[in-house]
Amino acid sequence: MYDDAFRIRPVSQLHGTIEIKGAKNSVLKLMAATLLAPGTHVLENVPRIADVTIMSDLLRSMGVEVSEVIDGRLSITVPREDQITPRAPYELVEKIRASIVVLGPLVSRYRRAEVSMPGGDDFGHRPIDFHLNALETLGANFEASHGYISATTPGLLGTRVVLEFPSHTATDNVLMASVLAKGITIIENAAREPEVIDLAAMLSAMGAKIHGAGTSRIEVEGVDQLQPVTHRVVADRVEAATMAAAVGITTGSLELVGAPVSYMDMVLEKLGQIGLEITKTSNGLHVSCFDRLKAIDVATLPYPGVATDYKPFIVTMLTLADGVSIVTENLFSGRFKYVDELRRMGADIRTEGHHAVIRGVPRLSGAQVKGSDIRAAAALALAGMAAEGETILSGASHIERGYEDFADRLRSVGADIERL
Ligand code: EPU
Repeated sequence: MYDDAFRIRPVSQLHGTIEIKGAKNSVLKLMAATLLAPGTHVLENVPRIADVTIMSDLLRSMGVEVSEVIDGRLSITVPREDQITPRAPYELVEKIRASIVVLGPLVSRYRRAEVSMPGGDDFGHRPIDFHLNALETLGANFEASHGYISATTPGLLGTRVVLEFPSHTATDNVLMASVLAKGITIIENAAREPEVIDLAAMLSAMGAKIHGAGTSRIEVEGVDQLQPVTHRVVADRVEAATMAAAVGITTGSLELVGAPVSYMDMVLEKLGQIGLEITKTSNGLHVSCFDRLKAIDVATLPYPGVATDYKPFIVTMLTLADGVSIVTENLFSGRFKYVDELRRMGADIRTEGHHAVIRGVPRLSGAQVKGSDIRAAAALALAGMAAEGETILSGASHIERGYEDFADRLRSVGADIERL
């Protein structure tokens, strides 16, 4: 009857250890970055998630050899320039919006690219104008027809690129384009996300000359060629926050081994205000919670602010908190879809434009609900862990796009969740 669902039943407490995997939002860009240098690259700490599989298929479709993920290792062999087809077809781009990050490396190294235009998303309209404007400033020419963007360039030239907004993937794209551009590129208003730092670290190990990654001004001195590398993917801060929220929602205590603590300042501050006890350990975080959660106000912002990706977990925690909270979404207009599903589970939430007013209730009640994107679906799974009765969450495959063995790992710390 259900072929894309989780069944979740309430638990009293979670206890144990969860190892945090490599970051989805880093590994996909690192995979694209391999296109910049021929030879065999090895990525370590790669999560076994559907998005990595799709990105692997995308690279394979261009003529790149990509292994399976074995013990967190992914080997990618990029052939000579004349053996690459610099094209990202609709069938794959449609499955994974992040595939737009192949545009920068393709234009830069192959001087031409054809990439299907990514569609919308379940949390709103997601344009790519920042990507195209920035790459045009570096000397790429674009034409759009039949749903594809064709890019050509006689060769990219470094210059000053000012991003209208510190877009995460637009920064990734410009960074990857500029490392092989002639001369110096300055990226102003760059995204400061930890995954941008990780990408810059890999590119630097490949021989790129980059200064200022992690700040809003990145300076790149173009080089003629890059070398293949072995690189370890940064840990997933969103996964770590998801597991911390699971403790807040159900109570108990978890050790989150490998959590990238130094990149989680603001979210840890907020989780602390909500009532979680958080201790930094030598290799991650210890999170515990035994009391009722407290209401707080939160607004999402680009890093180092509270990321929009954390918001569904924070909202879910606040549905059970003592008091009234206001949560403001500043990045994606439509990213409150799961709120209707939480209401079906008994949450008291009113949305007004990009604000949500949440009145905490003592208990949620299990229901049939639908997850519409990775984070929304994961948040509804957590809600089910604290809800009376049974929750059937459809849209399980969204969770599998970004979390390795989500149900198994949560079961290992006491959750009652099963893939149907
Ligand atoms: N925007 C534009 N034009 C553009 C690009 C972005 O108007 O050309 C707008 C967006 O519509 C949005 C804002 O700028 O309102 C910020 O978007 P950004 O470009 O920073 O988002 P993204 O790079 O497309 C990444 C993550 C998202 C995460 C956001 C915000 C990846 C693959 N995706 O998206 O992750 O929510 O940054 O931090 O890195 C997820 O993991 O679930 C996820 C959606």
